[in-house]
This record gives sequence, structure tokens and C-alpha cells, in this order.
Amino acid sequence: MPRVFSGVKPSGDFHLGTYVGALRQWVAEQERNDALYCVVDLHALTEEIDPAYLRTMSFNAAVNLLAVGLDPEVATIFVQSHVAEHARLAWLLECTATMGELRRMTQFKAKAHGQETVRVGLFTYPALMAADILLYQADRVPVGDDQRQHLELTREIAQRFNARYGELFVVPEAAVPAIGARVMDLQHPDRKMSKSVDSPLGTIGVLDDPAQIDRKVKKAVTDTDGEMRYDPEKKPGLSNLLALMAVATQSTPEEVAARYTRYGDLKRDLAEALAELLRPVRERAAVLVDEPDTVHDVLRAGAERARAIASATYARAAEAMGLLS
Ligand code: AMP
Ligand code: TRP
Repeated sequence: MPRVFSGVKPSGDFHLGTYVGALRQWVAEQERNDALYCVVDLHALTEEIDPAYLRTMSFNAAVNLLAVGLDPEVATIFVQSHVAEHARLAWLLECTATMGELRRMTQFKAKAHGQETVRVGLFTYPALMAADILLYQADRVPVGDDQRQHLELTREIAQRFNARYGELFVVPEAAVPAIGARVMDLQHPDRKMSKSVDSPLGTIGVLDDPAQIDRKVKKAVTDTDGEMRYDPEKKPGLSNLLALMAVATQSTPEEVAARYTRYGDLKRDLAEALAELLRPVRERAAVLVDEPDTVHDVLRAGAERARAIASATYARAAEAMGLLS
């Protein structure tokens, strides 16, 4: 069975971008693949984060993964720091990656831009991400569009390792959805919807209730020419709404555009469709937050299974590089 791996940072609340760009695919992939999904708490340490907040958010992330429909009987769900091999393999891979490669990463450039000090971990982040993926010999990695470059680097690192130390790693492929790979902020359609809290009105949380969703969709920024047309370049706000409607109704943005003439009608139906799409997530999460033991049990079992795979890969990589076994 093909192996699928992906990760999500517990650095803030999950939003519609996380769901549409990544988690929806994760759920679809769990049926046909051996799927492992990871709450990457070590990655959350690359920027300032309050310890108590991180702990809470890691737990919430696990709740959300179960709430979106991941089945712990089918998929392996775990926390990155519970499997020590992630950090151990990351070191080995850091010793194969170059400054030039890491310096080119646009996510690093964006996050480091204008900062007085930048943590080393933010710079080496992609080596840790490569370790996450390569430890499990993943064939496919379902992610949103913003992770493409990191996946390319992971492939580079794997290929170079295989050429230098012997065929050891599966070279993984990114699986990016055709529609919804880049959900934009509803208030600032020129930037992607993100966990940063500076645009509450532009961000729909996966646990938002129908009234909140309705308010945010109705206030979404569009344009003034009134032309119903899918054109992400020239009409980013409207195109974002069309893409979301396409995801919610399993059609294409062009088909959605053909069904409407007025922006107001589209927004009304979209708000309803999104509330419906997220309703089961909200309902399951409400039950799970009161069952912390269930969640912790899932994570414990997940880590155990993950560790068995990861430790075997790590041992082979360490030996291949010349570490004494
Ligand atoms: P993160 O929350 O940054 O760890 O991202 C988790 C997953 O969600 C990654 O696969 C991202 O590519 C994806 N993702 C995050 N934000 C968006 C967005 N605005 N649109 C589409 N996918 C996203
Ligand atoms: N870098 C990813 C993000 O910001 C999160 C991540 C860490 C990840 N390790 C991963 C995604 C491994 C896929 C596979 O969204």
C-alpha cells in the first residue's frame, strides 16, 4: 500500500485554508493508503510561542484532526516530539543540506524579513520537514500550494543522500489539490489565509459557527466591476469565493461563475455551503474536547506505531553515514 505522510503546525487555530488545502485531502487519502499524520510541534518552536499555549494548541490540533474525519483505526495520528527520530534524522540531513539551499526558501525569506533576530531553527526548518517525510518512506505528501518548494528540497535531499550513501530513501511527491490549494484571506485577497491573528474577519476558523461564517463571507472583499468571472489575477477576492464554492459543491470555479450573476447571491449561498461543510467538524470537536483521555490514547498509540517505522529508517541512515551502531 502506498505510504502517505503530512504534518500541520499547532501554532494557531485551524482555518478554512488548512481544511481545504490539506486536511480534506488527508481524509480522502486515509482510505487508500497507509497514512501517517503528524502534529509538528517542533516546527512550532521556530518562532516565539508561549509554552502553555503550544501545549494547548497541540492538543487542540489533535482534536481537530479527529474532528475533520481522520479515523485513528485507519490512519496513524501522532505528535512529532513524541518520536525522537525526527530531531535525530533532521541533524543528519542538516549535515547534507547547504546554506544556499536553505537560504532560497521563500517561506524562510518571508518569515525572516524585517525581523531583528532570526532563530537558527527557522532557517533549518526545511531539513526537519524533510526528516519528517523521509523517516516514513512516504510516497505522497498532501499539502497546500505554499509547501511545494519545501517538498522540492525534500526530494533534492533524498536524491543526494541516495547517491552519496546508497539507495535508502523513497523520493516523495507533493500532492497538491487542483482547487483550493491556496485559500486567500477574505479581507486581504492578495495574501493567503493564515493562522496569524491580525485578520480575524478575513479568516474562517474550522470551528466557526454558521453566524460567524455568514458575517465573514458577507463582508468579504471583492471588486466593483460586478463581473462574475473566475480570474485570480485580476479578481482575486471574487475568484477566492468562487473557488471555495467550487470546493463546497464539488464543481469548478468556472461552473460556479456561470450559475450566478450577483455577488450577493453567491455570498449568501457560499456562507450556507461552508457552514454545512464545517458542521460535522464542529459537532465532532465539541464532543472530543470533553474526552481528553480518548485523544491522548490516540496520540500514544500513534506515536508507538510511528516510532517503529521511524527508528528502523533512522538506524539505516545513521549506519549509512558512518555512525557506529
Ligand atoms: P500549517 O498550518 O502552516 O502547518 O499548514 C498546514 C497545511 O495546510 C499545509 O499543507 C499548508 O500548505 C496548508 N495550508 C495552510 N494555509 C493554507 C491556505 N491558506 N490555503 C491552502 N492551504 C493552506
Ligand atoms: N511546513 C509545513 C507547513 O508549514 C508543516 C510540515 C512540517 C509538514 N513537516 C511536514 C508538512 C511534513 C508535510 C510534511 O505547513
